[in-house]
Amino acid sequence: MEFTTQPLFLSEVKEQPRVLSNTLAQYVGPNYCLKMTKPPLDNLTLIKINKVYLTGCGTSFHAALTARYLIEELAGVPTVVEQASECGQHQLLVDNSVLAVAVSQSGRSRETLTALRLAKNKGAVTLALVNDADSPLAREAAGYITTLAGRVLTPSSTKAFTSQTLVLGLLAFRLAQARGLLTHGLREEIREFGNLAESVRFALSLCEREVINVASALLSYEHLFILAVGRLLPMVYEGALKLKEVAKFHAEGYSAGEFGHGPLAMAGPNTPVILMAFNDQPEGAAAGATLARVLKDRGAPLILITENGPRKNRELLELADYAILLPLVPPRLRPQVALIPLQLLASHLGSLKGLDVDNPHGLLSESLLSEDGAQATETGEGDGLAEVAFPGSFQR
Ligand code: F6R
Repeated sequence: MEFTTQPLFLSEVKEQPRVLSNTLAQYVGPNYCLKMTKPPLDNLTLIKINKVYLTGCGTSFHAALTARYLIEELAGVPTVVEQASECGQHQLLVDNSVLAVAVSQSGRSRETLTALRLAKNKGAVTLALVNDADSPLAREAAGYITTLAGRVLTPSSTKAFTSQTLVLGLLAFRLAQARGLLTHGLREEIREFGNLAESVRFALSLCEREVINVASALLSYEHLFILAVGRLLPMVYEGALKLKEVAKFHAEGYSAGEFGHGPLAMAGPNTPVILMAFNDQPEGAAAGATLARVLKDRGAPLILITENGPRKNRELLELADYAILLPLVPPRLRPQVALIPLQLLASHLGSLKGLDVDNPHGLLSESLLSEDGAQATETGEGDGLAEVAFPGSFQR
């Protein structure tokens, strides 16, 4: 029997189904529990919240971006998301009616800590979302939630990101519940989150072969655009970041709607475009087909990420040079599934280029990035956990 070793980065990508099920098992137990250190998330506090301010750096910032869609849709609370490094650059309009959530895998990023302190000084209710309970961010915030990504061994965050997005989604449901908005329909949706780990596992096996074909094709190019709309937009930002970081490939994530307002001028035979489009998205596959025709007219190689099954868009598939198919999932579960091919692409393209994807060169040193220079972390439970229970029950 032949044994091959895969990069740690790829192992962490493939660990995501397990991380998602651990996270769900921890937070969506029989009583829909979210556990925090102290009780800032009791119903009385949450009911007074009239704005959510989310912040983080890099991949954690992209996770924060995903939360806006769910918090606004489910809880109806206006949500602002900002890169932590920009937080001190303008008038920060927060007070004690604002829930400020700082997202950080390590709990040590300098800018995220600074942003949390600024929000705290202005009276915001502060919450840290960290993978390490014993980190400065968790200590400084009024409360924290841990992502359950386990030990993170590579500098490029993948499994911590998916866990962050899931926990932030659950937080949106928690806010909705506190405000009396957790209808029967929404409870059913929480139940659907129980299928997320399985959908991600299926996506990993369904798309890897075609992703390797795409990675081989990209070896002849230097630039790439990745386009999506709505709740998938943070995923194309994240995919582009991973391609730059671990595959040293120049990729830019853009809103498909915004792309026509200038960047389209770059599309052509030397610049492939990855387009995510799904039939049930507003402005999804139909608008995608219009854009795909424009791209093909300009000679741009087109790589489509779309769903398998009866809803798939035949016109788009005919226009695409490569089609990466994903399992059918409800729209709110799609971001984590749609990111899978981009994470796999970064890994395979980096490896095909002969790069060490586990040790990407050219990153800032840890002493510049973080408060105490330590980034690799393991989830710790900390002590004094208090439980805030959701009503109803959840079966996985
Ligand atoms: C990229 C990556 C970084 C981190 C960023 C913030 O793969 O991992 O962009 O997300 O440096 O780090 P944390 O989340 O530890 O605050």
